[in-house]
Amino acid sequence: MEFKRTLVTSALPYANGPLHIGHIAGAYLPADIFVRFNRMLKNDIVFIGGSDEHGVPITITAEKEKVSPQVIIDRYHNMNKKTFEKLGISFDHYSRTSAEIHHKTAQEIFTKIYKNGHLLEKEIQQFYCEKCNMFLADRYIEGVCPHCGCDGARGDQCESCGKWIEPIDLKNPKCKICGAEPIIKTTKHWFLQMSKFQEKIENWLKSKKWKDNVTNFCKGWFAEGLGERAITRDINWGIKVPLPNTDGKVLYVWFEAPIGYISSTKEWSEKIGKPEEWQKYWRDEKTRIIHFIGKDNIVFHAIVWPIILLASDYAHLPNEIPANEFLNISSRKISTSRNFAIWVDDVINKYNVDSLRYAIAANAPETRDTDFSWEYFQEKNNNELADNIGNFVNRAGVFIKNFYNNIIPEPIDLDDNCKQMINKTIETRDKMFDLFSNFQVKEATKIFMAFAKECNKYFNDSAPWHCFKNDKNKCSNCLYISINLVKWLAQLMSPIMPFSAEKIWQFLNLSGECSKSEWCAIGVDFLKAGHKINEPQILFTKIDDKTIRAEIDKLLNTGADNKNQNQTAPEKKAQSEKIENVIDIVDINYFSKIQLRVAEIIKAENVEKSKKLLKLQIKIANDERQIVAGIAEFYKPEQLIGKKIVVVYNLKPAKIFNIESNGMLLAAKTKDKLVLVTPETDIDTGAVVG
Ligand code: 2FM
Ligand code: ZN
Repeated sequence: MEFKRTLVTSALPYANGPLHIGHIAGAYLPADIFVRFNRMLKNDIVFIGGSDEHGVPITITAEKEKVSPQVIIDRYHNMNKKTFEKLGISFDHYSRTSAEIHHKTAQEIFTKIYKNGHLLEKEIQQFYCEKCNMFLADRYIEGVCPHCGCDGARGDQCESCGKWIEPIDLKNPKCKICGAEPIIKTTKHWFLQMSKFQEKIENWLKSKKWKDNVTNFCKGWFAEGLGERAITRDINWGIKVPLPNTDGKVLYVWFEAPIGYISSTKEWSEKIGKPEEWQKYWRDEKTRIIHFIGKDNIVFHAIVWPIILLASDYAHLPNEIPANEFLNISSRKISTSRNFAIWVDDVINKYNVDSLRYAIAANAPETRDTDFSWEYFQEKNNNELADNIGNFVNRAGVFIKNFYNNIIPEPIDLDDNCKQMINKTIETRDKMFDLFSNFQVKEATKIFMAFAKECNKYFNDSAPWHCFKNDKNKCSNCLYISINLVKWLAQLMSPIMPFSAEKIWQFLNLSGECSKSEWCAIGVDFLKAGHKINEPQILFTKIDDKTIRAEIDKLLNTGADNKNQNQTAPEKKAQSEKIENVIDIVDINYFSKIQLRVAEIIKAENVEKSKKLLKLQIKIANDERQIVAGIAEFYKPEQLIGKKIVVVYNLKPAKIFNIESNGMLLAAKTKDKLVLVTPETDIDTGAVVG
């Protein structure tokens, strides 16, 4: 179908904490790149976002800080909105689910579903904490998962097996606030009859050519049967159930949060002075609706949300759900509760925003989890952005300044090399068009950088510094083409690195904004000879090893100790100081996947420029390996030779400080002491520990 317009949404982040780079890689940067690219195609596109401000994630944070939920949502809604702005996430509107228009819209949709006869009112048994005087909804309760037997499952979902849990089925339940064992009490709730829509949703999903992660995830749910799901809760923070005698009952956060996409669009319509405009975007089938999300949100967007839309007959179904996988840091999962995260504000307050955008885009977790590390960030910034793009743009500018007084020279009889660069620009533009259109940001970024390298090579091969003296035409042709390549590079990079693109635009002394220029003009519209450009500016500054080392140390310290020592945002500090150590309980199946073995250290050396790390060669039976360990403050290399230690044998290899590490040693640690875990008496290397 030919679409007339597009509506893009990014998952609404909970307003209960600051944003980390994992959030950005999942639902925000890919959406923003897609939207910016479409704006350059001059497509009618609206980009909608907002904060998710209800539900247990908010109230638990408020309880931890002993403040009201309102304080929490105000703090983080404002903070995250600003972070998005600084990062260049170009929402047309960023709303919040506490807005009145959202409450009204969610209640309206609930009422429609109720009137359409798709809700069941049922008395059910639910856990109730007598100490805290409340029903224990969702994450207020923890226990053993009835499906996989894993401990630490919450009242709504088990993180280990991913299944949805009826809270009453949890084994060994405990109140998350006071730890008491709850009693069972009767309460009334409204259930969405999802099974009525199963066939329709299954067929609808089958008709889509979406990514495997979405289709596979949903298949599992269909196999089990969709059943009926409670869409109301007994908590006092949220949107009131719009029925009589329902005091203390609110709509389930996952029922109303996606409705936030619609209410935010309504607010946007009012903002632009066309209050009914939202209807075009939600009710006209000629609008393509695209939800960008992280993989943890798949089921709610691909199954529950479409059922809400069908049952209420309120708007049409989504057309695309590009779900991204997770971004890990140095092969470890980001964990906000353990403060193992890189916070967006911390990065963009110190470094170039576009360097972060580029680094994430170049390794976007589109089809599998990918990895981010400080070393990787430094490498992308220094070797690709500064050395390659920055260098090319700067040299083109400097030579035009020195040889032609900032005036673009006249081209005379362009040779094949020059013409080839024009063709390559068009080829790159078209390849990036296909990739961006298919949500393949990572590959598009790669193609872009490969082209930038070609531009550099063209400049080097043409060597204008030589031909200025003996082949003036070649020199002017090279600089004429190069400065045009600079312009086209700015346009090609604009969706990924919008701030640098605008800087180049100013340097080229062009009117308007690069982001408002046309994609199809890339490689076609030329800067004219005689046009005067401005002084070149530095686009990317290199980041030195010392700075990166300090970032790594900070990450290792805060992540390991679960203490937020050096973070900058005061709110984050306040928050994390109040988070007590959360212990993840793992079951035996989970633990048995980890292989521990005895190893012997055969070589040990300091890691250059690191105070904390040692590089060790170890022997495990016939296997020799290298590992990097953060023990240099407690052991000298010579103390270690010949020591038997215990290592994690099947840990995924990682690069620490740019050095391969294939395993991890075990050590016991207190605040100021660290000792290696060693076998009590001698035993052969390779012996299994467990
Ligand atoms: O996982 C989350 O952070 C949710 N707040 C996402 C909600 S997306 C949409 F449904 F609003
Ligand atoms: Zn309790």
